[in-house]
Amino acid sequence: MTSAAARRAGLAALAVLGASLAASAVGAAGPVPPAAAPPMTPLRIGIIGTGEIGGTLARLWVAAGHEVLMSSRHPDRLKALAASLGPRARVGTPREAAQFGEVVVVSVPYGALPQVGRDLRAELAGKVVLDTCNPYPSRDGEMAVEARRLSTGVADPKFLPGVRLVRAFNAINSGDLSGKAHRAGEPIAIPLAGDDAQALAVAERLVRDAGFAPVVVGPLSRAREFDVGTPVYTRLMTASQLRQALGLK
Ligand SMILES: NC(=O)c1ccc[n+]([C@@H]2O[C@H](COP(=O)([O-])OP(=O)(O)OC[C@H]3O[C@@H](n4cnc5c(N)ncnc54)[C@H](OP(=O)(O)O)[C@@H]3O)[C@@H](O)[C@H]2O)c1
Repeated sequence: MTSAAARRAGLAALAVLGASLAASAVGAAGPVPPAAAPPMTPLRIGIIGTGEIGGTLARLWVAAGHEVLMSSRHPDRLKALAASLGPRARVGTPREAAQFGEVVVVSVPYGALPQVGRDLRAELAGKVVLDTCNPYPSRDGEMAVEARRLSTGVADPKFLPGVRLVRAFNAINSGDLSGKAHRAGEPIAIPLAGDDAQALAVAERLVRDAGFAPVVVGPLSRAREFDVGTPVYTRLMTASQLRQALGLK
């Protein structure tokens, strides 16, 4: 089996395990006590762009038991953060994060996406990539004008070719990502869009592990419905409210 095929098989098994756990937790005999459920396999997550969003996700996922490699073009600057998160957090370069992760988060200024996609094309090929990046012409220049016009779900696959792309965590402010995770009561919804069912299943799991409720909006072409400036963007909605706002079942 090639390494890409092995990766696909591993992620498929993960998605199946997640689905069977979800099903068994609400079976006819009532909720399964946590001790009865087998532990979920931790994921190796590489983070490219460990800023407001990437750094917060790193903290939430380490707390959920995942192995996280946070990266920077200046990795020394992340050592204190990694030390504060404990042994499941490590630090490296963007290339090392792309190599390390079976799931990779790309959370850089939008204008850096083309370069990240070019430089790390080989390392990212075939991987599940969660893309939080939003285009802001004032920060990112002309390419962001075009991305706004096309929508991120159409523009971003051109910058990140060959990956199993999911738009995720782009429609929540970093302060809320940090402050509303695992909130009491109904969790805040995180909209997702992607063309690959297994990648979406992995993203759903990671949204739950971060303390939010995933809502799959549809394929990448529907990412435009939660791009910057849409009525649901950065609105703190529950899953049912978000589904209603987007006309989802
Ligand atoms: N902040 C929010 O509330 C929010 C909400 C939703 C979506 N977003 C979007 O998510 C993305 C990240 O936002 P953020 O606020 O977390 O940004 P940020 O705090 O500025 O962090 C971005 C990180 O990207 C890294 N980076 C910059 N250029 C890079 C390059 N060429 N190659 C590799 N890494 C590079 C930088 O790390 P080093 O300099 O250490 O390498 C920096 O720490 C943006 O596209 C933003 O629009 C942000």
